[in-house]
Amino acid sequence: MADYNDWLRSGSIASKAREYSKTLIKPGAKLLDVADRIEAKIRELGAEPGFPVNISLNEIAAHYTPVPDDELVFSDQVVKIDIGTSVNGAIGDTAYTIDLSGRYSELVKASNEALSNVIKILQIGTTLGEIGKTIQETIESYGFRPVKNLSGHGLDRFEVHTAPSIPNYNTNDPTELKKGMTIAIEPFATDGAGLIKDSSTPVIFSQTGSNPVRDFTARKVLKDISAFNELPFATRWLTQKYTEPRLKLAFRSLTQAGNLTSYPPLVEINKGMVSQAEHSFIIEDKVITTT
Ligand code: CO
Repeated sequence: MADYNDWLRSGSIASKAREYSKTLIKPGAKLLDVADRIEAKIRELGAEPGFPVNISLNEIAAHYTPVPDDELVFSDQVVKIDIGTSVNGAIGDTAYTIDLSGRYSELVKASNEALSNVIKILQIGTTLGEIGKTIQETIESYGFRPVKNLSGHGLDRFEVHTAPSIPNYNTNDPTELKKGMTIAIEPFATDGAGLIKDSSTPVIFSQTGSNPVRDFTARKVLKDISAFNELPFATRWLTQKYTEPRLKLAFRSLTQAGNLTSYPPLVEINKGMVSQAEHSFIIEDKVITTT
């Protein structure tokens, strides 16, 4: 068996951070404090965040993380927490949903059960189509829809999303899982249309180049973000050092130079409620759930 030490360690830290996060999410708590504390826990346990903690509420499926002066507070929402860790670039990626409203327990169950049903069929040779079919059938058995344009994904060193793309519905894709693959599977269930689209202002970014820029702050920011090794980062990770208006200008010129890409929050197109569950795996003779 290959040396999976970093992957196992990263996954274990992600799962510890996930369990810790469950103690923080309660009505009245600020999203910003919770995100900061989860990321601090990841570092305390010896990893780096693989991406900013995603805290996505209700019809937002993913890619929201608190902004520097975020005032959002937990109340009666459907809360998705998506946690990423990096140990020397080996990624742990895990997510869960808490229903603070008390009205969406079936929706939460649908994505949880979809994930556990996939785990039952996961082995070398399982096809992507079979995984998608299992997710779709499980979620539909609850009367909900899978979110079709979100998918599980391969994980690689310093890469959170790589091939294969693992569908959340039956695509009949005959591609088989191979020995040694590191992947994340993340069913999303909704009472909406089953599709997401980009919304509002992006708060998560990643570096995509190192092309020269004229603006002084942009040059400094480029140097700072190189520490993230092209993994996604949050605006709030940089506002200790730069004011927000300066950062905004720097991001604009970095984006124009092709050095930066952004990930806007993803909203369900019919404003449906969304739930999510996710684990990371190593495909071996006996599949390992790392998170
Ligand atoms: Co993921």
